[in-house]
Amino acid sequence: MKKIAVLTSGGDAPGMNACIRAVVRGSLYYKVEVVGVVRGYDGMINGHFIPLDGNSVSNIIQKGGTILKSARSDEFRTPQGRAKAAAQLKKHGIEGIVAIGGNGTFTGSQLLCNEHGIKVVGCPGTIDNDLYGTDYTIGYDTAVNTALEAIDKIRDTADAHDRIFFIEVMGRDTGYIAVQTGIGGGAELVVMPEIKINVENIIKRLGDSAVHTKSSHMIIIAEGDKELSAQSISDRVKAALPTLDCRVTTLGHIQRGGSPTAADRVLASRLGLGAVEGLLSGKTNVMAGVINKSLTYTPFDECISKKKPITKELKRLVEILSGRNYL
Ligand code: F6P
Repeated sequence: MKKIAVLTSGGDAPGMNACIRAVVRGSLYYKVEVVGVVRGYDGMINGHFIPLDGNSVSNIIQKGGTILKSARSDEFRTPQGRAKAAAQLKKHGIEGIVAIGGNGTFTGSQLLCNEHGIKVVGCPGTIDNDLYGTDYTIGYDTAVNTALEAIDKIRDTADAHDRIFFIEVMGRDTGYIAVQTGIGGGAELVVMPEIKINVENIIKRLGDSAVHTKSSHMIIIAEGDKELSAQSISDRVKAALPTLDCRVTTLGHIQRGGSPTAADRVLASRLGLGAVEGLLSGKTNVMAGVINKSLTYTPFDECISKKKPITKELKRLVEILSGRNYL
């Protein structure tokens, strides 16, 4: 393989730049030419490729976002869009791709591979940590730490005013960010798709505790719980316990930005080089991941279709420490 391309696609995640850097430096180490695709699959369709050398990735390891920009491409979802992209790759002599992104990115990569024989290795880049085939995704650790910092600050004001805060965190359909910030932030309750909870019990718990013990509370709610949003839980609590002072905070996109943590930089670097070495050794249609400290390659098929459940141990921990077992 003489020339490869690297792209970032889907929601950006802190550590994507560190991963791009590792792909570029790794390729140059093996004397492989490398180009960046600007704006994910849209850039591939439009032939928007930029040459990357060792210097072009200097001073980016600590930066959030992605120097290659990211997009969710509608055109690439169509067979015609993918055919245009494959033709552009051929025209520019690109033989392999490192795709950094999440589920949607790998669904696209898999189709490109199956329909046009393009070799693709993926790197899991998403704050949601929802990908099978890796213990952690690039960006998750940073997002959790960013959310935690915000939660600690909210706790100060919650305590000062004796308020109940309902804090919504990201995570798409999973509660990974919620469970980690719930444990780390000492939340009284964590509501997430993986653990069903009855709002009546929350009301009873808050009612009892407001009378007998605490006057401020932190409740973390994962955005992915379709039935229970932070606002709807707060509204029901307020209706049942009108004397409680309730506030809702949605942390939102601050969770996606900022300088990556050391853990994310190292993970991104390992996976970037791992992806290049995977491509050069003939691997395709797989995602590089780290499982139990070792670099692994898992077929896109499995990464996309299989669930990575939150462990029973973590669920038990959050239940015991948050006091939900007293409900
Ligand atoms: O997948 C990353 C993520 O930040 C999710 O946690 C969230 O649901 C979604 O992307 C938000 O997407 P957008 O930035 O397109 O609103």
